[in-house]
Amino acid sequence: MIKRLLERVLEKQIKEVIGVGDEYKIMFFSSARGAIYSYFKSMGDGTDSVKTLVPDYVCNIMTKAIKSARRGTLQTYELNENLAPNGSDLHAKSNLFKPDVVVFAPIFGAYGDEYNHLIETTLHSDNRPVVFLDAAQMIDLVPAGLDGIALSFNQKIINGFYGGALVFNKESMSELRFSFKPLTISKEIEFLTKYVEKRLRLRPQRFVKASEMTDKGYQYSACSQFPFKPTVDEISMVSLIVAILEMLRIGNYRRNRRSNHQLLRKRLSSVPGLKIVDTEHIELSHFVPILVKDPEALKKAATILDKMGLRLKRPYALDDDPLSSVRRYLYAVENPFFRLK
Ligand SMILES: Cc1ncc(COP(=O)(O)O)c(C=O)c1O
Repeated sequence: MIKRLLERVLEKQIKEVIGVGDEYKIMFFSSARGAIYSYFKSMGDGTDSVKTLVPDYVCNIMTKAIKSARRGTLQTYELNENLAPNGSDLHAKSNLFKPDVVVFAPIFGAYGDEYNHLIETTLHSDNRPVVFLDAAQMIDLVPAGLDGIALSFNQKIINGFYGGALVFNKESMSELRFSFKPLTISKEIEFLTKYVEKRLRLRPQRFVKASEMTDKGYQYSACSQFPFKPTVDEISMVSLIVAILEMLRIGNYRRNRRSNHQLLRKRLSSVPGLKIVDTEHIELSHFVPILVKDPEALKKAATILDKMGLRLKRPYALDDDPLSSVRRYLYAVENPFFRLK
């Protein structure tokens, strides 16, 4: 069947890019949220309670997917200014909470040695929990030994059109039980229609002019878009094809993003009160996060940013905890594929 053949092609591409071997199996879903949901749904006998430790600042769809899959509790550990886990908080929460699962989710591609070290420490800790990486916003340098990894093809590092994957260690497979819901023809047509619509429409309005940004501005991110529910739906044909084509261009994206990031860094260094988040591999991200320490600084910088044509993405928040999860000092500039003049 053509779909299975395409899945094998994408599987090979992914394994090469993230550097995992045959000890891992890949399953495709209609979204990363579907992959995360399925992983959590399938652990154990699917009904027992699961304690999960997650980062305190992340796209809310990830926590939503976990919560809709499982009974159990979610606790958070802190991320620092550079969006890496705060090691002592992670350690303290692990000791106190004794989680069954620890989730790492590097956002904005912010990932480096510091991050890797903390993942490895967790992998080698006493009473080792299940270690899950939500790599929706980071697919490079996946550390060895993880139990599960979620990928998204929803316009992130893989610049695809919806779709996601679950990469999981075959050893734990006997404990994982997936009951796939194959996509119906009408669903396939819905995806195709959305794709055509998206190609024809102008850019999604995720970004606002800096001068129009208000203090109240935060969003639950574009994650609430179609297909918004975490489900175990199969990947659509159009998502598969687009992901394969985009994977062929990933080297190009990386080069462009990296050089664009350098240009943005240079440009923004002349704007007082703004600082680009600094971590080893952040330059590959689709968005360039910037720290705005003083809300007044953003107002002052707005005219300059407007003139540069740099629109901003608002900070995002967890639905059930917007006040503490939203980081009003963290905005993002699009890392576009054109070169700034
Ligand atoms: C960290 C993170 N995890 C999961 C998701 C969900 O990805 P998808 O849209 O493929 O469900 C997102 C989406 O933005 C994300 O940023």
